[in-house]
Amino acid sequence: MAERRFPALEWELVAEAEQHLRSVANLVKCHGRAILSRFEITPPQFEALLVMLRHPNLTMGELCQRLDLASSTVTDLVDRMERNRLVERVRDPEDRRVIRLRLLPRAQELLDAVLEARRAYLADVLRRLDPVDRRVLLRSLQRLDAAMRGQEVQAPLGGRTVTGRGDWQATVAKERATAGCTPAGGGGELAMRLAIIGGTGVYDPEILENVREETVVTPYGRATVRIGTFRDQEVVFLARHGTGHTVPPHRINYRANIYALAALGVQRVIATAAVGSIRREFGAGHFVLVDQFLDFTKNRVSTFFEGGEEGVVHVDVTEPYCPQLRATLHAVGRELGIPVHNGGVYVCTEGPRFETAAEIRAFERLGGDVVGMTSVPEVVLAREAGLCYATVAMVTNYAAGLSGAPLTHEEVLEVMASNVVNLRRLILEAIPRLAAERSCPCAAKPAPLRVGREGQQP
Ligand code: HPA
Repeated sequence: MAERRFPALEWELVAEAEQHLRSVANLVKCHGRAILSRFEITPPQFEALLVMLRHPNLTMGELCQRLDLASSTVTDLVDRMERNRLVERVRDPEDRRVIRLRLLPRAQELLDAVLEARRAYLADVLRRLDPVDRRVLLRSLQRLDAAMRGQEVQAPLGGRTVTGRGDWQATVAKERATAGCTPAGGGGELAMRLAIIGGTGVYDPEILENVREETVVTPYGRATVRIGTFRDQEVVFLARHGTGHTVPPHRINYRANIYALAALGVQRVIATAAVGSIRREFGAGHFVLVDQFLDFTKNRVSTFFEGGEEGVVHVDVTEPYCPQLRATLHAVGRELGIPVHNGGVYVCTEGPRFETAAEIRAFERLGGDVVGMTSVPEVVLAREAGLCYATVAMVTNYAAGLSGAPLTHEEVLEVMASNVVNLRRLILEAIPRLAAERSCPCAAKPAPLRVGREGQQP
């Protein structure tokens, strides 16, 4: 028996990988053969035709070299293909002693038909896979291909760029998790359960320790996060508008952001948002743990499910913001003496302009309490991905028309800056108090979005 030179987990992974690779290679070969026999052609003939297609006008000698076969075997092959009107031998017009090989139109037709049949077979196999699995598979194949060529491997979901062996075991375990497998072994490095989405004025994961940056490549685009620890708990931080507030609310890639968090194993999200107040009693510096939204956005993709392969999903948002997260944040806020209100209706506008005074009057009549530009579709996508989500909305101004003065983004930033300390205290104090398990209604139902992650089987 071969000596075990790897720790147990690695050995199992290697054996499993070996088995799947061998099985896939065999199946591809068998189906390839079956297809060729349907077209009454042998594998060496097919190989020879492909070579001749790629390198027109080869001599017999050159064909022998490219196929790495003896000249008698190749002569035999070419004879048979000539009889089948697939190739012909022609004399080189410049040197009549040299014989060159030319494909006849029937060969081209045959090759097209075989390649088409192969693709149809593959399409049929891929069709039987879940769409998310398909994407994960393609990226994994790309990466495997690159790794086998000894190239730099770009992580597809939730991983770092990996060169060489590095932290191989941790990377593989993480990849297994992002590909939808339950982690082999303890999976301790996957306990990354909470994310903070920093809105306007909150661009840095200050207070977190050992912060590292990761770019997650999702089917919707890239999302860059910073991951650090707070009191021994791993926390993912995502700056919604980019670190230098370079992305306006209507251009944020909400889907990539939420998908990335889900792929990283996040289960709870606390988002921050600067808002204008529609209610006199919610003054600047107050925090509102919103519990409902009114959606006045216009041009945003607000779902992962756009029909077709993705399917049609109508997710329940009766209670869009997680009551468990809100309750913890509220309790902490009261203890710390921070002005925090549990409940409020967030009116989400398209932006990037502020509202008119008439719009704010209308929102007030509709029951709106605060107005901002980012909570939708973020909260909806979080629900589709099965994440608990809460927004700590910080009032930075009275909404348009309420104070009599025009609104500026600078004013919003200034008020945010002078209250960000409270915001940070509120969130960070809440983190260690969150129960290990989610017992809220938002976590009760299985998530429609199937992002490979711990505890969720594809
Ligand atoms: N309107 C919309 N978004 C905002 C506001 C506002 O008044 N203040 C901070 N973000």
